Amino acid sequence: MMTLTQMACAVLNTADGREKTALSRGFAAQWSTARAAGDDVEIGTCSPPDMPARPKTPELRAPRDVPRRKTGSIEGRNALLHAVAHIELNAVDLHWDLIARFSHIPMPLGFYDDWVKAADEESKHFNLMCDCLEAHGSFYGAMPAHAGMWRAAQDTQSDFLGRLAVVPMVLEARGLDVTPGMIRIFENAEDTQVVAALNVIYAEEVAHVAYGSKWFHFLCGRDDLDPKPLFHSLVRQYFHGPLKPPFNEEKRAEAGIAPDFYWPLADEMPPPPAMR
Ligand SMILES: [Fe+2]
Ligand SMILES: [Fe+2]
Repeated sequence: MMTLTQMACAVLNTADGREKTALSRGFAAQWSTARAAGDDVEIGTCSPPDMPARPKTPELRAPRDVPRRKTGSIEGRNALLHAVAHIELNAVDLHWDLIARFSHIPMPLGFYDDWVKAADEESKHFNLMCDCLEAHGSFYGAMPAHAGMWRAAQDTQSDFLGRLAVVPMVLEARGLDVTPGMIRIFENAEDTQVVAALNVIYAEEVAHVAYGSKWFHFLCGRDDLDPKPLFHSLVRQYFHGPLKPPFNEEKRAEAGIAPDFYWPLADEMPPPPAMR
């Protein structure tokens, strides 16, 4: 069996989306089978690429140059699915990068179990979004996508706590805020395939945010650091701009992120408790 970091680098160096996710899911299955059997597993070391390999298409453009369409049309809804597929593919790379990039920092095996599972789920999410696009006669790569998705990874490539603060605890938590609205768009369009896929994504993303919070707090406890002020300073350092309410307080709480972590970083005051 390859070491876990070798598996991570193999996924990161695979360009095609469906090939990347197939490899990712295969490695995740190998890892969890070995762990369940109590086999010896090796994390090893392997330097991940600065930027993961990506397919020739979609063409990557600055966010302001990616056309926005109204979601009342099938084209607009496909653009939304395409954007989600792009985010999911990026998330596959982010989780494998986390595993390889910080492998010099000793962590309990449970840390790797969590992120391998998250990477496996992101791979499933990418495939689900591709299936939905293909059912609509489109595909991943058919339209431009946001450049700069790897920015958070680059900014935090030598800051383990910064990576956990910004990627799962800010970016993936943001997904919990916006997914219910997306589900409503496809419910209104009576698109049951997409509604089912987005419900899978919504349910599984809570755990990814929770893994972020769990391991952030673990590291703070191990190094005798105060989690809340550290979280605020890391997000201000690495995340460009304020956090945007409304927040999904219920799902964020389920994921172990308390309101006093995110409200002080928002560009407005929290509503009075009675209004929430
Ligand atoms: Fe996902
Ligand atoms: Fe995720």
